[in-house]
Amino acid sequence: MKRSLFLAATMCAVSLMATDIDVQKQKAAAAELKKTMMGELKAKLNESPVAAVEFCSKNAIDITNSVAKKHNLNIKRVSEKNRNPINSADENDKKALAQFAENMARSGKPGEYVVVNGKYYEPLVTNEMCVVCHGKDANMASETAQKIKQLYPNDKAVGYGVGELRGAISVW
Ligand code: HEC
Repeated sequence: MKRSLFLAATMCAVSLMATDIDVQKQKAAAAELKKTMMGELKAKLNESPVAAVEFCSKNAIDITNSVAKKHNLNIKRVSEKNRNPINSADENDKKALAQFAENMARSGKPGEYVVVNGKYYEPLVTNEMCVVCHGKDANMASETAQKIKQLYPNDKAVGYGVGELRGAISVW
């Protein structure tokens, strides 16, 4: 009896440790994706917002997949108001996004991360740069808005101000 209790306790500790290590790995992958994507976006925005939109539409998914491959994990960027149909939110994603939205409503901050059914989620909040391409129609340059509509006829990812929950990075 004692022995099995001890075993159960040890197994618990081991699985906690494994979860902890998983989260560290998932966090590292998300951080690299953010850094890579931001770097590329900034460089392209210096050229022009339209060039940056074209760059994103051609490369965002490839960049995401190559960071995932490097870390030997799966990565997705998700939103309930997605631009690219590939990035739509499933049931787990929606739970994570709801948690972030709730945190924001309560404290003004989304929190660092949540784990839903083993999937790690990190919130993405808009800053000044994001609203160049995800902002309110009236504030977006008309060439940018036109280019986005041309590439994404079913775009839902506009109308944001600064400091709003845009979506999440999911890693598993
Ligand atoms: C130059 C224009 C541009 C800027 C600036 C930009 N985005 Fe995007 N974003 C896009 C395009 C185009 C897509 C769709 C392509 C893709 O990523 O799959 C997209 C997709 C996304 C997605 C995936 C979900 C979806 O809607 O398809 C998230 C999340 C996102 N952007 C967040 C941000 C955040 C946060 C910022 C600011 C830090 C930002 N974006 C800045 C153009 C932009």
